[in-house]
Amino acid sequence: MNSFVSLCRRLRGQAPRAAFALLAFGLGSAAMAATQAGAVPGVPDTMQQRVAACASCHGAHGEGSASDVAIPRLAGKPAGYLLQQLEYFQTGQRRHAPMEYVVRQLSPAYLRDIAGYFAQQDVPYRRQPVPAVSAETLRRGEQLVLRGDSTRGVPSCVSCHGDRLTGVEPMMPGLMGLSYDYLTTQLVSWRTRQRAAEGPYCMGVVANRMRESDIAAVSAWLAGQEPPADMHPVPASAHTEPLPGWCVMGKSGAGQ
Ligand code: HEC
Ligand code: HEC
Repeated sequence: MNSFVSLCRRLRGQAPRAAFALLAFGLGSAAMAATQAGAVPGVPDTMQQRVAACASCHGAHGEGSASDVAIPRLAGKPAGYLLQQLEYFQTGQRRHAPMEYVVRQLSPAYLRDIAGYFAQQDVPYRRQPVPAVSAETLRRGEQLVLRGDSTRGVPSCVSCHGDRLTGVEPMMPGLMGLSYDYLTTQLVSWRTRQRAAEGPYCMGVVANRMRESDIAAVSAWLAGQEPPADMHPVPASAHTEPLPGWCVMGKSGAGQ
């Protein structure tokens, strides 16, 4: 009898916690949806739990996936940029079924916290596999990234993404440490409007002015670069190049 009572006590103390841990890790997005409303009593609402559903794909610190080149790194990207993308997945302005699903239930405050969490993570960059392309393709990629192509109206990538291509606070993402596959997918998705926004839109314009071979060239050159030691996005005040008038960022059009 005594041992039965103590077993009950132990179960009462521990089983719910184990069950909630399973819930948080196994059914991450459901648990996140529940905890955002504060609806599950006894579940500590920690950041660890909030990002558990993301970690299975993006890694615990948003370092990206070693095995799946389609899953991007999130760590260290500007918080405003990450938040904007999460909002786009929610509104369907950026199409990607698994991402649209995981963010569907999350509140604006929750998205803001998660974006802040991943922006603050500081984990080493992984060198990306370099596709086998010709020296000529790499030269074309380098030209577009560093100098652009005025004959096609393509501004250089550095003029917006920063001299070291590490991005600019608070909205401009960097282009280093991304895989060839992820880069080409994004550039193509602006052309097919899988990744789109209303109105004149920076990357929609840039991607449409490039040839398909240019997309392969910039992606190959970028993926082949050794990420600089300091990968932090530069502060807005350090970026002197003004955005062209047709480059509207976000709903408000507020750039940097
Ligand atoms: C099933 C795997 C999976 C899960 C789970 C997942 N993601 Fe993603 N995520 C992806 C993939 C794949 C992409 C790239 C989509 C594309 O190509 O547009 C992506 C893209 C993103 C981006 C855009 C990154 C960029 O640089 O533009 C953000 C931000 C993001 N995810 C955040 C999250 C957060 C926060 C969670 C948890 C709430 C999460 N993801 C859960 C697979 C996943
Ligand atoms: C006129 C400014 C501008 C120029 C020039 C520009 N970009 Fe962008 N780029 C942006 C903005 C703004 C975003 C964020 C888009 C969003 O909010 O979805 C972006 C985002 C990206 C992303 C998504 C990064 C991620 O983590 O998902 C890629 C890839 C990219 N740009 C590649 C390029 C390449 C390659 C070039 C040069 C050929 C280039 N960009 C030139 C403004 C620019």
